[in-house]
Amino acid sequence: MGFQKVVRRVCLGVLVGLSFGASAMAEVKGSAEAGAKKNSMCIGCHGIPDYKTAYPVLYRVPKIAGQNYDYLVASLSAYRSGERNHPSMVAIATTLTDQDIADLAAFYAAGTR
Ligand code: HEC
Repeated sequence: MGFQKVVRRVCLGVLVGLSFGASAMAEVKGSAEAGAKKNSMCIGCHGIPDYKTAYPVLYRVPKIAGQNYDYLVASLSAYRSGERNHPSMVAIATTLTDQDIADLAAFYAAGTR
């Protein structure tokens, strides 16, 4: 095999790998059922109507139940990336995988709590 052929193969391999990766990411689908099992670390703050956190500052916790799915995914991803910087939410979001975020978003988008 000539050098050029090898290079072409490798390039093709990288391209195929990249597009596989991209489509796998786009296919992360949220499951409300799975989300219901992952929300134990959220209900302490988001499950209580009109709840306010006292740390690090007195802060009203937004209601997320019934919120739009895409909005929930976007906001959780923004906390995870540091684009949004509320300390409690950043600390929590950095522990979540793409799948966790999708599941939790599906759960809260469908939910009333
Ligand atoms: C320690 C209390 C606390 C916990 C636990 C917590 N949150 Fe939050 N969350 C907050 C506060 C406070 C805000 C508002 C922060 C801000 O203004 O950016 C918030 C904001 C959010 C938002 C954005 C809402 C909006 O209207 O923009 C989402 C989505 C969210 N939380 C989801 C979750 C999920 C999912 C979990 C569990 C994995 C969780 N939170 C756990 C306190 C908490």
